[in-house]
Amino acid sequence: MANVRICMIGAGRVGKLHSSTLRRHVPGGEVVALVDPVRSILDATGDQFGIERRYASLEEALDGTAFEAVIITTPTPTHRDLAVLAAARGKHVFLEKPMALSLAECDDILAAVERHGVLLQIGFMRRFDPDFAAAWERIQGGEIGEPMMIKSLTHGPGLPPPWATDLKTSNGNLAEVNSHDLDTLRWLMASNPRRMYVEVANFKGAERGVTTEHFYDNMLATVKFESGALGHISGVCPCDYGYDSRVEIIGKKGIMQIGEMKGESIVVCVDRDHGLVTPIFRRWPDRFRWGYIRELEHFVACILAERPPQVTGADGRWAVAMVLAGTRSFLEERPVYLQEIMG
Ligand SMILES: NC(=O)c1ccc[n+]([C@@H]2O[C@H](COP(=O)([O-])OP(=O)(O)OC[C@H]3O[C@@H](n4cnc5c(N)ncnc54)[C@H](O)[C@@H]3O)[C@@H](O)[C@H]2O)c1
Repeated sequence: MANVRICMIGAGRVGKLHSSTLRRHVPGGEVVALVDPVRSILDATGDQFGIERRYASLEEALDGTAFEAVIITTPTPTHRDLAVLAAARGKHVFLEKPMALSLAECDDILAAVERHGVLLQIGFMRRFDPDFAAAWERIQGGEIGEPMMIKSLTHGPGLPPPWATDLKTSNGNLAEVNSHDLDTLRWLMASNPRRMYVEVANFKGAERGVTTEHFYDNMLATVKFESGALGHISGVCPCDYGYDSRVEIIGKKGIMQIGEMKGESIVVCVDRDHGLVTPIFRRWPDRFRWGYIRELEHFVACILAERPPQVTGADGRWAVAMVLAGTRSFLEERPVYLQEIMG
């Protein structure tokens, strides 16, 4: 196979990002069709990235253009139907996080990819970030000894799109913002979660015009792992000061930190009273630039080599289970065992 031909489903924020990444950095993958029901968005993104074949639905794209794979970058409630349809038509699937809204939806997707023999990769790009990937290698290598505790934070600058501020259509910020932390915890600690306790708070919703029930912009999660280790996640969105993602892992022999508040490598000094200015990352596409590039390189390479991706549907399902456990925890004001969610 020469190039992997890809249909990009969703032409919004992430549809644009992945279209740009493929065009500029992943020569083996080519976006040959674009799908979005909103004509103005479809045309704006199509024009920006020179994608000629544009459709209002995946069904139309499947009938109109030949391709081997889809990248699904649509709102979470649409993930199950789009992934199942693409798999049924023999297309490999790259699916953005969160995998779906419920475990039943995750199971439908897993069954479809299994039945039709296609590959599935979930968009946990942190696993491909050079710093996160190196940390995983070094923890595996025993450098800090057995991990005892992990603390992960994601603070994002702006509100996500309106559909993502409603628990019913997105499962809230725990899913939208902190899915990445939930996956990072399981991955770096090499253990599944046993119990979670979550507290949430809402400081800026009203002033930003968000009136949806149970909206929160601050979230603190405590996790007990099956290994006996402890985890902690903080989520703030909107935080306004920039995009901030950092992790600390404490092992029996030492401590490891991933990321820092200082974002860009440029340091500016214009005033001795204010001292040095080291700008923080503005947006997530900047902080995880290499993660987004390498995850799509990986997806294309897996299709060409006919081997399964490193980030699986099972990983996506675990993150959804943790979102559901965390949401139940703050709604019912109690710790929730993953077993209650997963059965
Ligand atoms: N990996 C990451 O870091 C990251 C970051 C942000 C968002 N996301 C995820 O990416 C997905 C999209 O988020 P976004 O911020 O780009 O949202 P968005 O609202 O900016 O874009 C979604 C687009 O999908 C279109 N759409 C809706 N239903 C569709 C359908 N059935 N078929 C085709 N297009 C459809 C909408 O018209 C919209 O243009 C979500 O799952 C979100 O959680 C991932």
